Amino acid sequence: MVGNIQPGDYPGLEQTPLAEISLGDDGATRRLGEELAGALGEGGFVGLVGDLGAGKTTLVQGLVGGLDDSGRWAATSPTYSLIQIYDTSPPVFHMDLYRLEGWDDLESIGYWDIVEGGEGLACVEWLDRIPGAWPGTGMIVELIRHGAGRMARLWADSSHRDQIEEIKRTMNSMSERS
Ligand SMILES: Nc1ncnc2c1ncn2[C@@H]1O[C@H](COP(=O)(O)OP(=O)(O)OP(=O)(O)O)[C@@H](O)[C@H]1O
Ligand SMILES: [Mg+2]
Repeated sequence: MVGNIQPGDYPGLEQTPLAEISLGDDGATRRLGEELAGALGEGGFVGLVGDLGAGKTTLVQGLVGGLDDSGRWAATSPTYSLIQIYDTSPPVFHMDLYRLEGWDDLESIGYWDIVEGGEGLACVEWLDRIPGAWPGTGMIVELIRHGAGRMARLWADSSHRDQIEEIKRTMNSMSERS
């Protein structure tokens, strides 16, 4: 199980993951997304890192569903559109860096206006393509294939320690019950 995160590339990030959570199926990935929605809220930032098909968009589906359970929103990878906005409360700005060349391109999608504007929750797929897109505070979820399921590593700056502890407790108690 090899991850992609080099913590030194993300100023302010704790040097080790604050949690490792086993995700047995895609429902568990969605539940983790729901938990993140509750923990982060407006102005929050979560970077999603993992290979093709690791479950990044599945996690965003859960996150968006956690803010609005009407089922109106079906998150898909914004690989071509680069950004999708979900009119939830708070709104979710779902971005994908896969097709960007580098840091200079962030401006062209209004990246810093969104991330620093703090008017919604920013979810950024393929953050590791442009580590300079990390705003210095927030979380990074690394999704790694693990047998038929996935392992999530939760990284964050130290201000999110308690929230991650809480997420870990909730996710573990759910997996014990199922
Ligand atoms: N914990 C899990 N266990 C098993 N399968 C999962 C898990 N989480 C998600 N999946 C499945 O993995 C597949 C790929 O998921 P998804 O599209 O979210 O990946 P992605 O990381 O966004 O991929 P891409 O990089 O291509 O955008 C889906 O079929 C999804 O149901
Ligand atoms: Mg995707």
